[in-house]
Amino acid sequence: MSIQEKIAHLEREFFEQLATATSLEDLEQCRLTFLSRNGTITQLMTILKELPDQEKRIVGPLLNQLKKTTEQAFLQRQTELKAMLARADQERMRTFDVTAYRFHELQGSLHPYTLTIEHIENIFMSMGFIIADGPEVETDWYNFEALNIPADHPARDMHDTFWIDVPGMLLRTHTSTVQIHMMEQGKLPIAMVNSGRVYRHEATDASHDIMFMQTEGMMIDTNISIANLRAVLQEWLTNLFDTKNLNLRLRPSYFPFVEPGFEVDISCPFCKDGCSVCKRSRWIEMGGTGLIHPNVLRACKIDPNKYSGFAFGFGLTRLVMLKYGITDIRLLHSAPIPFLQQFGHQY
Ligand code: FA5
Repeated sequence: MSIQEKIAHLEREFFEQLATATSLEDLEQCRLTFLSRNGTITQLMTILKELPDQEKRIVGPLLNQLKKTTEQAFLQRQTELKAMLARADQERMRTFDVTAYRFHELQGSLHPYTLTIEHIENIFMSMGFIIADGPEVETDWYNFEALNIPADHPARDMHDTFWIDVPGMLLRTHTSTVQIHMMEQGKLPIAMVNSGRVYRHEATDASHDIMFMQTEGMMIDTNISIANLRAVLQEWLTNLFDTKNLNLRLRPSYFPFVEPGFEVDISCPFCKDGCSVCKRSRWIEMGGTGLIHPNVLRACKIDPNKYSGFAFGFGLTRLVMLKYGITDIRLLHSAPIPFLQQFGHQY
């Protein structure tokens, strides 16, 4: 094969391989085969030195031309291919949904509040109670007035309240508001339970927040006494903590909307002789309770001579923290994913 034929042959081979290169790897392969230091075109150039001068004058320009056209074609193809790949990449990214999480990496789980509320509601439904609900933005009437806390009553100081810009409206400071909504419906007897958020303007720490949850219960019928109150409390708290030996302690206390009023303690479900949860006292404080004050019944047009009832309001947040061993209330309310994932019950 003459040198001119070799040049023509190499040129054909180069363009054939270049035309079939559809990836940067193919292109690199083409460069290595023809244009790199050991590539066939570069090697052919080295022959030039050994040729007699006369032939050099003929073959030299042909070889230079071959080198120039192949290098130019290579660069052009490289630019085209890069642009084509970038366009394909953009097209793929255009349909990429940045809001779509990968399913196995982020599975939801029920919040400890939800788990506990469902548990409490099941216990109360099994006792024939209904599940009630009420607004978080309330009027003065539902939060204070109807609950026997008139405007000048010192008990109002007990609640540092978030008042809102609408006169007489506030964020409820306790779930006892739901008692009034239920009584106003005028359907007796009543046996209801309600869990929800409440708000208090106070300093926060590991066990206090400006928003927390309470569970409120109420029963009204003829002849309701403290014996009924005790029996219901005993039943639901025993079930909730899943223990047979739960003792209740009612300590006399004052809440304007009950008479008599009590603080409820339960024997520590986690120990016999004192532990860090009960601070070695063997008792844990749950919240307030008592027989509904006749003034509250009257405010809701219920005859206190015919009907009586009890109510209780417990710190649900406190309960959840106890049940799951959560030591900082802020974990419950900021809900970091790794914290939530500990509670299982995944969907
Ligand atoms: C009341 O709110 C009454 N409404 C309860 C009641 C209802 C009494 C019916 C009688 C009859 P108290 O202010 O004590 O009561 O709050 C009840 C519970 O809420 C407390 O025992 C505590 O567990 C919880 N609690 C109070 N403040 C906070 C707070 N800042 N953060 C978390 N939990 C709190």
